[in-house]
Amino acid sequence: TLLSLALGASACGGARSSSSEASDSYTIKFSHVVTPQTPKGQAAEKFAELIDEGCGDQMKVEVYPNSELYGDEDELQALQSGAVQMLAPSSAKFTTIAPQLQVLDLPFLFDSVDDIPNVVSPDSAVGKAIYENQALADKGIKVLGLWDNGLKQLSSNDEMQKPADLKGLRFRIQPSDVLRSQFDAWGAQTTPMAFAEVYNALQQGVIDGQENPYSNIESQNMHTVQKHITESNHGYIGYVHAINKKFFESLPDDLQTCVTDAADEAAAYNREIASDLNQKAKQTIVDAGTTKITELTPEQRQAFKDEVVPSVWNQYADVIGQDLIDELVSQQ
Ligand code: LMR
Repeated sequence: TLLSLALGASACGGARSSSSEASDSYTIKFSHVVTPQTPKGQAAEKFAELIDEGCGDQMKVEVYPNSELYGDEDELQALQSGAVQMLAPSSAKFTTIAPQLQVLDLPFLFDSVDDIPNVVSPDSAVGKAIYENQALADKGIKVLGLWDNGLKQLSSNDEMQKPADLKGLRFRIQPSDVLRSQFDAWGAQTTPMAFAEVYNALQQGVIDGQENPYSNIESQNMHTVQKHITESNHGYIGYVHAINKKFFESLPDDLQTCVTDAADEAAAYNREIASDLNQKAKQTIVDAGTTKITELTPEQRQAFKDEVVPSVWNQYADVIGQDLIDELVSQQ
């Protein structure tokens, strides 16, 4: 009848209006390559918790650790295509799409973890190169924050007290030209490789060594296949917490604020726990008894530094920006 047709039509209209913006729901898929126990893994879980507790039923976060959804080879593509909405790759992983981010890969940019917050704060020269990065914006990637892992150590089956000890060894690197040049300067060979493959490559002797903070070495069991670690603190692993810009802009204003607030809080949490987690990982390695840790004297560390600063820094002035390099060199 006419009446039932009219009722049907209005019921239909009602269903449509109930799916308007106010009740749309949003899922953030957050993919990463490390274990849940690491500084990045823990901060990702914290971010998910904060969204869960603070942003109502409309939004949820699914965290996929251990390269289980996407790995180094394809995660940035997945972010740009919208297959995932969020990542936190290390700076080196952006070399192809935003080469200026290699500023964070410059060897000896930090003398200790205490220097990190100032050097990378949003209003510092380095911070601006990341937060206001045009190449990232052009690729539809919005930077929410910077997370730390910590400073990198060298591992191999040989004791390494001076650059000459690295000669002839092949190190896995993240795909960053700066990192290749760093090892070149020390006389070592390099192979770029995805993080998920490093343990097997070390075990099978495809590579001799690698560089990472203790938390990454321990959580991947790399120490069980490396007889030596040199505590060189020679470089940094920092993460760019990033969201697909189109997705972010599709969110209602209150949810956008909720995401940026949760991101700020997760970043603060990350910085609180990162050093501790690395210290604990170091202790686990010591307790395992598989690996000798060589702590460098200041003079020994300086010898590694002299081979790369400022020569490697200057080599990348074109990519990173002459002004930025000049400023960093002048602070040395
Ligand atoms: C690596 O590839 O060694 C690291 O960037 C992994 C990570 O995300 O900490």
